[in-house]
Amino acid sequence: MSSYILAIDQGTTSSRAILFRPDTRIAAQAQQEFAQHFPSSGWVEHEAEDLWSTTLETCRRVMAEAGAGPADIAAIGITNQRETVVVWDRKTGQAIYRAIVWQDRRTAAHCARLKAEGHEALVSARTGLILDPYFSATKIGWILDHVPGARARAKRGELAFGTVDSWLLWRLTGGKVHATDVTNASRTSLLDIRTGQWDDDMLALFGVPRSLLPEVKECADDFGTALPELFGAPIPIRGVAGDQQAATIGQACFQPGMIKSTYGTGCFALLNTGETVVTSANRLLSTIAYQIDGQRSYALEGSIFVAGAAVQWLRDGLGIIDSSEESEKLAEAADPAQNVYLVPAFVGLGAPHWNPDVRGAMFGLTRATTGAEIALATLESVCYQTADLIDAMHADWADAGAGSVPTVLRVDGGMSASNLAMQRLADILAAPVDRPAVRETTALGAAYVAGYRVGLFPTPGHFADMWRLERHFTPAMPAATREQKLEGWRDAVRRLTMA
Ligand code: G3P
Repeated sequence: MSSYILAIDQGTTSSRAILFRPDTRIAAQAQQEFAQHFPSSGWVEHEAEDLWSTTLETCRRVMAEAGAGPADIAAIGITNQRETVVVWDRKTGQAIYRAIVWQDRRTAAHCARLKAEGHEALVSARTGLILDPYFSATKIGWILDHVPGARARAKRGELAFGTVDSWLLWRLTGGKVHATDVTNASRTSLLDIRTGQWDDDMLALFGVPRSLLPEVKECADDFGTALPELFGAPIPIRGVAGDQQAATIGQACFQPGMIKSTYGTGCFALLNTGETVVTSANRLLSTIAYQIDGQRSYALEGSIFVAGAAVQWLRDGLGIIDSSEESEKLAEAADPAQNVYLVPAFVGLGAPHWNPDVRGAMFGLTRATTGAEIALATLESVCYQTADLIDAMHADWADAGAGSVPTVLRVDGGMSASNLAMQRLADILAAPVDRPAVRETTALGAAYVAGYRVGLFPTPGHFADMWRLERHFTPAMPAATREQKLEGWRDAVRRLTMA
């Protein structure tokens, strides 16, 4: 009897594989970083081959570590960095350009032009998104227009587009499956989120030929079978969800009004809005949270582009820490009397500002400022940005007349391991923060959808009963201090965006 689910989590800076047992315990895990390419200011690329080879390698490693053969794995579930675009040749399976990453801003001018032409209202109404280079559509257009002959080849049906899930599915199945799931599709700007189908008006607006597109499926669905030569025997692939939606599932935020916030490279907060598409008056996104057994649920999403990436910058850019974990220790030594603010707009600002052109800045530096204050300002910048998102969510939720304001935030992702950062988050939000026992919620969400499909995991309602709290952070900061700190943050953002 197969006893494991293999979750693939293909993220922005690393690929990971985790073997879950049906009781959600982790049997083995592996992780591999890969190169980030920054060919020009605001450009971010990955080698599509790196995404594939590190995925395959980590899957093989976890199986070896757990002593699990293909027959021990009931199904594979995939979760992935969203919006990132791969275009490949259907015959050779080779990408025709590097993957253009979600953080990449090269299509900012294209988006500004579409906005100036008055297209944003229709894009928002259909897709739930705004016009921003973050999303896939303009990146696909860029590849078609800049790789010689690509547009003509696309029209002839020779090329395929996919977000990273589709790319991995293609490679896992040897080109037999060209598919995606509704959550990933909902991030392309090409999907009508109410019908769950590709939208002809959006395809025309962004100049994307339909022949490029994958088939859209549910999250817990039949995505084909991994080739026998990859793992020794075929393994069914039965689940796919974009990483933030997978984390929402892994956090069991199945009830309308529940919010989770994931601290990876960026930070993404999702509020489950149930069967209702809530349209934001505060520049948040409406997106598909998941679709299981024909039931589609929606979410309001706030997306911040730089969270863990700012800690990485402390390590790799400034060299003031040797590992991400050290940021907490360094921040603890900060002088509380100093008011240093970092606005980590390294690739512009996401929600609710959506300004692709600003770049990061630090405020309040004095001769007494050391690495400790900078480390604290970095951790705090993530808390302030989360507070901006949660405020916007509360306002939208109230406007929608959807009931009482959500009060608890469930957190996960690398930075959620920091007690200092999570306590500060509760303080800045003036609301409790819950950290679950299983911190690998993104991978767990992917494992859940695949495991549910093959009968190894229970229904969402019963899965929610399996969620366990590890630590509850209660706000403790005096209201006046909090207000003063928030005002300092707002002032810093104002100064940056007005400059
Ligand atoms: O939308 C981008 C997001 O999916 C990337 O997530 O975890 O790689 O920062 P992460």
